[in-house]
Amino acid sequence: MDYLVYYCTTALAIVVGLFYVYAKHNLSYWSRRGVKTPPPHLIFGNFRDCILLQKTPADQLQEIYNSADPDDPYVGMYIFHEPVLLLRDRSLIKQIMITDFENFGNRRFGLSNERDATGYDSILSIRQPRWKYLRRKLTPVVTGQKLRNMMPLMIKSSNEMIDFIENLPVDKTGGKTYEVRNLGSRYCANVLGSVMFGVDTNSFNEDDKGFLISGEKVFRSFSAGVIFIIFFFVPRLSFLLAPLLTGPAEYFRKVFWSSMKVREEMGIKRGDLVDSLLSLKAGEQDPLYKFEGDHLPAQSSSLFQAGFEAGSTTIAFALFHLACHPEHQATLYDEIQTHLAGKEWTMDLMNEMSFTERVLLEALRLFPPLPITDRIAEKDYKIPGTDLIIEKGVSVYLSLNSTSQDPRYFSDPQKFDPLRKSLQEDKKFFESLGFGIGPRACMGTRMGLLFMKIALIAIVTNYTLHYETDGALQNSNINGMANKKKVRHVFQYAADGLHVQFKKRA
Ligand code: HEM
Repeated sequence: MDYLVYYCTTALAIVVGLFYVYAKHNLSYWSRRGVKTPPPHLIFGNFRDCILLQKTPADQLQEIYNSADPDDPYVGMYIFHEPVLLLRDRSLIKQIMITDFENFGNRRFGLSNERDATGYDSILSIRQPRWKYLRRKLTPVVTGQKLRNMMPLMIKSSNEMIDFIENLPVDKTGGKTYEVRNLGSRYCANVLGSVMFGVDTNSFNEDDKGFLISGEKVFRSFSAGVIFIIFFFVPRLSFLLAPLLTGPAEYFRKVFWSSMKVREEMGIKRGDLVDSLLSLKAGEQDPLYKFEGDHLPAQSSSLFQAGFEAGSTTIAFALFHLACHPEHQATLYDEIQTHLAGKEWTMDLMNEMSFTERVLLEALRLFPPLPITDRIAEKDYKIPGTDLIIEKGVSVYLSLNSTSQDPRYFSDPQKFDPLRKSLQEDKKFFESLGFGIGPRACMGTRMGLLFMKIALIAIVTNYTLHYETDGALQNSNINGMANKKKVRHVFQYAADGLHVQFKKRA
């Protein structure tokens, strides 16, 4: 018996010792290359708090970003034992994400999706060279004339939103208070359901909330939070998640095929994605990516999901900031009066609404809904001007919220200031950072900005906005909101919601 205890203890000590040596070796990957890292945990690397759901991924990455010296161009980190590099320097970010895109054309996110049994082989996670082909085919669907065609659908949804606010109960102070992320979600479900699935839906109506519910199921639950953390940080395990996503996937599939069937039978054209998919299906097929079977609903579903969560949150934060800043609200209202009063809303007029756009971009800068993106090195890559090699298969990460709040680039970075001067210096880079960067940046930027502008304009035309909690007016600053974003999710949003008060303009 004594021998047994002795052997077991010795075996355990050997296993623990071997693991310790193995872990220490793995976790010295960056120090062996002269790259600083915050001290890693022996098992979880630098993501302990995130993996144990004690910190949001955005906060964890920001902490790692801030652990570096202010001018460090990058900082090393470990996801469990896997070494990845967090980029901090604006020039280096542009070099890797734009100039050297050929070597960084794939995302780490959703790596194993290509084996996904549901067939959701989507643009979000698809790899080169198939990505390039698919992106070329889909981009025209959300740009140019197609975007113009979508405007009436967006305006219709904004009218439904105004009717909804109009019918909310009036509170003691004569206003109507509502949680604006839910408002944004209903609006986005209408716009995206219409554009991506060709379905005329009204999520402001309690009996017509299929898209809203399915969109929320994909993103907003404890399990959805865990699923996305796995997608982003341990994508090799994502194939295990497919069964958990079948509910919304089935809904989207069903709606898509019924819409497609009606189109084919009736020969109706609506200028939306379903039309485009019908012609892609009828056209010559490239072996790289065939527009058939599950590949068809996969486009509608992935574009719906890409826009739904990001759009809802951006609208919510823009409304929140406007509610807290009557002076910016007044400027926006003036812009509406100057450019739009008494006119039919057109794309050209929307393009003139530059302050409205800056409100959205500043809301995105302070609170990018998707605060993280990544790319994988396809080949060994020497970082220009250094001896550091990013080895094939190693991923680089961007922390969008950290870069867009870095005091090197923005004075008083926590302040909501749509007119901030520092944006002028590298306008293109910073303005769009909330939409990602480079050839693989958000495909729906123009479309997203358009439908979000329409939402803001419709609301500010009709109402003044106020931010109140328990009757006490709150001050807007990002620090005060910090406790609002403690949601265990890759996507950022205010856990307690953002309750904005609407008062009808005289
Ligand atoms: C409304 C606010 C939106 C925000 C803040 C946003 C943000 C982002 C971000 C940060 C990325 C990752 C970019 C990167 O890796 O560099 C992304 C990718 C993407 N977004 Fe958006 N997005 C929005 C709306 C939309 C809409 C409406 C669509 C629908 C067309 C869309 C479609 C996509 C697609 C397809 C990708 C993947 C692009 C690719 O891999 O080629 N997004 N988005």
